[in-house]
Amino acid sequence: MKDQILTHVSPTYPWKENLHFFPTIGSTNDHIRSLAKAGAPHGTVVIADHQTGGHGRRGRSFHSPEGVGVYLSILLRLQCQPTELMHLTCAVAVAMCEAVEASAGFRPGIKWTNDLVFGKRKLGGILTELGFTPQGKLDYAIIGVGINCCQSPEDFPEDIRDMAGSLAMITGRDIDRAKVAAAMMESLHRMDTRLLTEKVRILAQYKADCITVNQDVVLVRGDEKRYGHALDVDAEGALVVRFADGSIEAVNSGEISVRGMYGYV
Ligand code: BTN
Repeated sequence: MKDQILTHVSPTYPWKENLHFFPTIGSTNDHIRSLAKAGAPHGTVVIADHQTGGHGRRGRSFHSPEGVGVYLSILLRLQCQPTELMHLTCAVAVAMCEAVEASAGFRPGIKWTNDLVFGKRKLGGILTELGFTPQGKLDYAIIGVGINCCQSPEDFPEDIRDMAGSLAMITGRDIDRAKVAAAMMESLHRMDTRLLTEKVRILAQYKADCITVNQDVVLVRGDEKRYGHALDVDAEGALVVRFADGSIEAVNSGEISVRGMYGYV
C-alpha cells in the first residue's frame, strides 16, 4: 500500500521519506503523537489500513475497519501562536474536500466543523489536536482524518448505517484508496503552505462548502439544548447562530446538530 500511495504522489511532494504505513494500529493520531514527542519532523504522515482504537471528538470511536477506508494523521510543526490556528480544522476540511474531488470526482460538503458529508451521510471526520512545550509554547499540531472509501451500507454497524456513507456509495464506482490517500497528502501539503497567509480565502471556501449555514440547528452542551438558525461562519471559523430567544452568538464549542441530519428531526 505504501508503494502504491507513493506512485500517486507528485514529484514535488516534499515529505515522501516521512510516510509511515501500518497494516493495523490502535490509532494513527496516538501513534503520531509518540513520534512527535520523540522529535519526528514536520510533514510526518502515518497511514493505517485498519485502526483498532480509532477515535473522534468527545472520546467517540471512529469505526475503522480493514481495507475500506483511509486513516491518516499528519504532524505539523507550525511556527505561530496557538491563537493563530483557530481556523485549522476548517482549513483541513477544505483541503479534504479538494482531495475527495481530485481522487473521487465529486466535492463533499462540510457539516460544521469537522464532518465531511454528502446528502445526509457522513463520509469522514477530522480530529485536530495541539501539543505544547513544557514552557507552554506551541510544539506541534496533529491532524487526523478518516475517510470511508469502499464500504457498502451493510458494512457499517447498524447504529450508524442510516447516517454513514462512503465514496463508493456516492460515486457507484470502485475507489482506489491509494489514490485517495495520495490526494489527501498533497492537499494537506498545499494547506500547510497557505494556512497562515491565506486565512480569508480559506474561510471563504469553508463557508461555500459548509452545509450547516442557513439551516436550523441545535447546540448541545452537556444537558442543555439550544435551538437556533445558523447564519454564517465568522472570520475565525466559529458558527454564527441566531437562537430562539433572538440572541446571536458565535459558537466555538459544543455539538451542533443540523435539522434533518443524523437523526435530528
Ligand atoms: C470525528 O468524526 O469526530 C473525527 C474522526 C477522526 C478519525 C481519524 S481516523 C485517523 C485518525 N486517527 C484517529 O484515531 N482518529 C483520526
